[in-house]
Amino acid sequence: MGQPDGDTPGCAAPREPAPGEEPVFRIAVLASGSGSNLQAIIDRLHRPLFEVIDTDEDATGGAANVQGGGGAPRGDAPAGVAEAGGVHAPRIEIVLVICDTAGARALERAERAGIRTALIPVGDFKDRDEHDLALVTRLCEAEPDLVVLAGYMRIVSSAVLKAFPWRVINLHPALLPMFPGTHSISDAVRYGVKVTGVTVHFVDPGVDTGPVIAQEAVRVEDGDTPETLAARIHEVEHRLLPATIRLIAAGRVKPPLPGSRVVQVD
Ligand code: GRF
Repeated sequence: MGQPDGDTPGCAAPREPAPGEEPVFRIAVLASGSGSNLQAIIDRLHRPLFEVIDTDEDATGGAANVQGGGGAPRGDAPAGVAEAGGVHAPRIEIVLVICDTAGARALERAERAGIRTALIPVGDFKDRDEHDLALVTRLCEAEPDLVVLAGYMRIVSSAVLKAFPWRVINLHPALLPMFPGTHSISDAVRYGVKVTGVTVHFVDPGVDTGPVIAQEAVRVEDGDTPETLAARIHEVEHRLLPATIRLIAAGRVKPPLPGSRVVQVD
């Protein structure tokens, strides 16, 4: 599975909160396209502290432009705790969204939520190594506890995996190991399977081969087209990915022991 131990020099290990400081689980999201899964994470998990982002409008006491959730979750959970289905996790914050495609809707969604963004298109770099170095550098600066690939259409390099061992997860629209690759939904319709689904897995150096963390089945109905099936798959994705991130933030997901690929979820 190739997930190395230890951290790449220069890339921070997960931050420990200072005494008295509220624990925060920091995530970076990589996306390429529409970003509907990014939106689901924003809506269901992202709880930024209040941030004053524009104070120069009125120096005499006029309202500053204030954004953020102030640590007050939008659900029923008490401040500082992201809770659902009995899962207690620290406050979760998306600290960075990286996109490889200019004009992608994912960037717009992040900006609208007041989240820091970086556009890192591969075409801006001499070669893949240089691109990957820029990606790792930017990720390391953001100090995420978890890197989430949510519709990121590039293979992440071993440099990223080395910098964040067992801290990179991917969302896939099929029940892996069935239908890996980029056409999973139409492949499932064409093959005629009666059940497909959604997988969240740790990323390893292969394509959609990393250890499975969570899966949920979706029935394929007679007459389904790739579009109708995709709509039901996305509904499941929008629930399963945030729920899995919350479990990881709560410390309830254990990477496989050496020689195994079984992920333990408490
Ligand atoms: C999702 O179906 C995900 O499983 C796949 O790419 C799609 C991204 O959709 N890897 P969106 O950009 O989150 O809307």
